[in-house]
Amino acid sequence: MGWILVTGAAGFIGWKTCEFLLSEGARVLGVDNLNDYYAVRLKLWRLEKLKKHPDFRFLEVDIENHGALRVLFETFPVEAVINLAARAGVRASMEDPWVYYRTNVEGTLNLLEIMRDRGVKKMVLASTSSVYAGSPLPYREDLPVNRPLSPYAASKKAAEVLAYTYHHLYGLDISVLRYFTVFGPAGRPDMSYFRFIKWIDEGKPVVVYGDGTQARDFTYVDDIARGTVRALRPLGYEIINLGGGRNPVSINTLIEKIENLLGKKARVEYREFHRADMKVTWAEIGKAERLLDWRPEISLDEGLSRTVKWYLENKYWLKDISV
Ligand SMILES: NC(=O)c1ccc[n+]([C@@H]2O[C@H](COP(=O)([O-])OP(=O)(O)OC[C@H]3O[C@@H](n4cnc5c(N)ncnc54)[C@H](O)[C@@H]3O)[C@@H](O)[C@H]2O)c1
Repeated sequence: MGWILVTGAAGFIGWKTCEFLLSEGARVLGVDNLNDYYAVRLKLWRLEKLKKHPDFRFLEVDIENHGALRVLFETFPVEAVINLAARAGVRASMEDPWVYYRTNVEGTLNLLEIMRDRGVKKMVLASTSSVYAGSPLPYREDLPVNRPLSPYAASKKAAEVLAYTYHHLYGLDISVLRYFTVFGPAGRPDMSYFRFIKWIDEGKPVVVYGDGTQARDFTYVDDIARGTVRALRPLGYEIINLGGGRNPVSINTLIEKIENLLGKKARVEYREFHRADMKVTWAEIGKAERLLDWRPEISLDEGLSRTVKWYLENKYWLKDISV
């Protein structure tokens, strides 16, 4: 049996996706460059859990390094690739757009080229709801998405179309998944829900860009991981939303829910809305139901309660992590 290569395995979604694959009996080869965009300790915490599993192997590899990836494919019989490694910060992508382009676009190109060369057919590619900026709601996969608001969103759109070219020219089978604001335990400290939990608990000011009416279609990480593994099935080339699919929830409502779970009041400081941010996201998820037999199972309330519980249990080391 071959290996499923998961890039970004030490990341939030990568970690959960590896767990799901392992629970289904797959052999998983995880790679990650363990960069310090956010606390490496959190990435190592996730890896520690994965390394307990006998069918998991980890290699510290950068997907920007074409040569290292080639050696990896020569050493392990890779059956399919789940490409989750990316720089993923919307606002942060304005500070160093080059690294976003190198990892998200050139890194994807490296994988596609090696797959073509070695006859590996299947890639699941992580994309984002950010590509829908300015589109009518709810977001459908067939909308034209040509107005990305950040270098991050532009890099993801570039990877999507590059993958299409490799499907067209070489018959690679690609599932592009557009994820909608993924949340859950051991998530990304740069994301709003994680910061809000920590700030409210620590009694620090809760910084909100905009008036807090901006809204997101929150999706729980276990649902995302399950959908990602399902997307390994042969599809040709398809773009599929994985999102909550319910009415979007505002940032102000999110803060209230966290206040209730922690039993503490937030001191909110509103700042100017950031022009790289989207006002609202909302997924139409009929295509995921049809093609993947997928729909989200964990509600925002249930998912948030699990997330806050994890935070409280791990607070003793999370206190040192910057958000
Ligand atoms: N979390 C969300 O809400 C969300 C929403 C839409 C799309 N996505 C996409 O899902 C994927 C996973 O996101 P996440 O939230 O788990 O982020 P994450 O930052 O936790 O995970 C990404 C992982 O990739 C690794 N990585 C980055 N550059 C790399 C490189 N050059 N080589 C090897 N590894 C590298 C990082 O170290 C990190 O562990 C990304 O492609 C992201 O763009 C996430």
